[in-house]
Amino acid sequence: MLRRVVLQAATHRRRRPFLPSSIYAFRQCSISASSSSSSESSQNSNSSFVEHLEGPNQSTETTAQSSTTISIDRSGLYNPPDHSHQPSSDSELVKHLKGIIKFRGGPISVAEYMEEVLTNPKDGFYMNRDVFGVAGDFITSPEVSQMFGEMVGVWVMCLWEQMGQPNRVNLVELGPGRGTLMADLLRGASKIKKFTESLHIHMVECSPTLQKLQHCSLKCTDKDDADGNLEKQIISKLSETPVSWHATLEQVPTGVPTIIIAHEFYDALPVHQFQRASRGWSEKMIDVAEDSSFRFVLSPQPTPASLYIMKRCKWAEREEIAKLDHIEVCPKAMDLTQNIAKRISSDGGGALIIDYGLNGIVSDSLQAIQKHEFVNILDNPGSADLSAYVDFEAVRHSAEEVSEDVCVHGPITQSQFLGSLGINFRVEALLQRCTEAQAESLRTGYWRLVGEGEAPFWEGPNEQTPIGMGTRYLAMAIVNKKQGIPVPFQ
Ligand SMILES: C[S@@+](CC[C@H](N)C(=O)[O-])C[C@H]1O[C@@H](n2cnc3c(N)ncnc32)[C@H](O)[C@@H]1O
Repeated sequence: MLRRVVLQAATHRRRRPFLPSSIYAFRQCSISASSSSSSESSQNSNSSFVEHLEGPNQSTETTAQSSTTISIDRSGLYNPPDHSHQPSSDSELVKHLKGIIKFRGGPISVAEYMEEVLTNPKDGFYMNRDVFGVAGDFITSPEVSQMFGEMVGVWVMCLWEQMGQPNRVNLVELGPGRGTLMADLLRGASKIKKFTESLHIHMVECSPTLQKLQHCSLKCTDKDDADGNLEKQIISKLSETPVSWHATLEQVPTGVPTIIIAHEFYDALPVHQFQRASRGWSEKMIDVAEDSSFRFVLSPQPTPASLYIMKRCKWAEREEIAKLDHIEVCPKAMDLTQNIAKRISSDGGGALIIDYGLNGIVSDSLQAIQKHEFVNILDNPGSADLSAYVDFEAVRHSAEEVSEDVCVHGPITQSQFLGSLGINFRVEALLQRCTEAQAESLRTGYWRLVGEGEAPFWEGPNEQTPIGMGTRYLAMAIVNKKQGIPVPFQ
């Protein structure tokens, strides 16, 4: 296995020449600790969570190709259990979800459940705490190693060069987590003044708690307002760059060339799940069972999201669909991609999307992760992260559908992406000037970013063996055609 990494590294090394030499001026090594990752998984089957209902008046449906039975939403007969006068140990979020189901008089979609669980303003998973790192629930690539943010920085600088080094650029990050990626990007780029002076950073983040962490990571400070402007400017001391926060991409000002980074953002967007039934595709919904727990049911009639599954199926081969019993669609990902494509089309620039997913239709991938372990999606909502595979083919079609001025490149694997941008040179440079402990951490981080499977040199406890993200994560670029083909998608 180690040999394979070394061979892979050698392949990447040959591809260096297209990068401007200035871009290799990185900051001095300050190595981030790494530990086990739980954010990767194979597509898991939620069928096991679907309740079997038996007894009179309860219709069941058998899927065309499996023996799983599933209850049908009987909205007309719906009579939710009354919890109002009973003492309940339900969390505020569970009460809120049950309230929606009760007062709406029927189940909610998996997408609505996912959105509430993750981003409910009061109790959503992301809203009030730091969920990242060893002490949190999962680890992302920027938290694994500083090299990730630095390599994304190389990509951004190359695109800026291809854009003709504009004097003003909006650099937008969607869902920046702790702000680690942007901090590593700015530190790595800080010597290239013409680049950093052109930037205005826009962090699109819904969580006030994470916004504060990002403010800290970027070493932000209020700028003294010599001109007497009413609006205060916030500056990152890492690169003397102005920084603003927004809840949505729509709030980021337009009219300026724009570069957008979306790392592990799309996987947090709510997905609708469909299951094949005798009458066609039925949407899986979430209801409250007699015992007051959540359960999956199937909608007996088409839902608003049915339009999206029809649209998605048109982009796929018939044979591909015929093999599937479950399909996930993410309307928010399609809409976001169209917004990105329109913005890039009118303002120039490009977007980089890195996430785990497939270059094709996604079947049944929604997963819940708590404290680095998979848990049941319906248990204790708000205490676990929910995420789903990104359907990169749908992202490509969505962008191409909305504008002829943009071009979509990739997806390529994270390993190809980081390798072609020079991560091997970077790790070698860092290894020249670090302690043995830092070297171990660097090698582990490198493996986890570009490798595949379990790290062969790991000597720690088995349950913490790092798993490589090199091929599970994919990178895709959406770029204004005027900019040409971005590195390393040539
Ligand atoms: C999986 S985390 C990824 C964090 C970071 N990009 C990283 O790789 O470490 C998802 C991020 O997106 C944010 N987020 C999720 N849904 C969002 C939404 N609808 N609008 C804005 N931010 C959102 C979360 O608060 C979090 O910062």
